[in-house]
Amino acid sequence: MREHHLREHHLREHHLREHPRIAIDGPAGVGKSTIGERVARRLACLYVDTGAFYRALTGLALRQGINVDDAAALATLAEHADIRIIPPTVSDGRQYTVLVDGADITADLRTPAVEAAVSRVSAAPAVRVALIAQMRRMADDHTVVMVGRDIGTVVLPDADLKIYLMTSIEERARRRHGDLVAQLGAASPPFEAVHDDIARRDATDQAQMRPAPDAIMLHNDHLEPEQTVEHILRYLRERLERSGKVLASEDQREVPR
Ligand code: DC
Repeated sequence: MREHHLREHHLREHHLREHPRIAIDGPAGVGKSTIGERVARRLACLYVDTGAFYRALTGLALRQGINVDDAAALATLAEHADIRIIPPTVSDGRQYTVLVDGADITADLRTPAVEAAVSRVSAAPAVRVALIAQMRRMADDHTVVMVGRDIGTVVLPDADLKIYLMTSIEERARRRHGDLVAQLGAASPPFEAVHDDIARRDATDQAQMRPAPDAIMLHNDHLEPEQTVEHILRYLRERLERSGKVLASEDQREVPR
């Protein structure tokens, strides 16, 4: 009910809004964050990784000793915590800084404890409603490239461009295994274990994974990240031209960070 109300309100607001929005969705390991961050940089706009909202809330719940299966307590927390994503404030390789009630919690987003609990937290419907409201507020205030699982379908159903990124499991496993070998050398898990891990993760995320009917399906098995970025910028240019808008910030390439 509440979700419906939020959505209706959001659609009415659309006509007043001047900030174009790009939605990039897809399963784990298809390169959403690399691509999303680069597209945002090219457009001089804000990159919003929505997984960071669920991770930030999970970290906060763990710190406050809240049981991550207590959906009501989590929802209350989500309604009261002010979660914001801003451009990186520290040059430590991060793609963005996450503030919770003004405090920088970016370093906590990928701890093993958060990693283990975040999918349970993100499965609670009331948590999703509260965090999606915060995501939409960010998209109302800024031009965003928003990346996640349900951006084109639920969070920003009126996005100016919706991309659904896809990579075969084999290619995702090859890329991930390559990263692990580069990091860990001989201590890296074998290819088969990496492959099975990705297949398991796909199955867990299945509930949220629905491409929007008007999303452009972009298979990137045979594309370098930069080629995928170029495709997305071309689609955006075409979309905006068709609706009589221009891509104002496209000439501000290589935005200083
Ligand atoms: O993309 P990620 O690994 O940072 O996502 C963290 C968790 O949040 C993962 O369990 C999927 C979930 N998630 C979601 O349900 N909806 C989104 N829009 C983004 C992430």
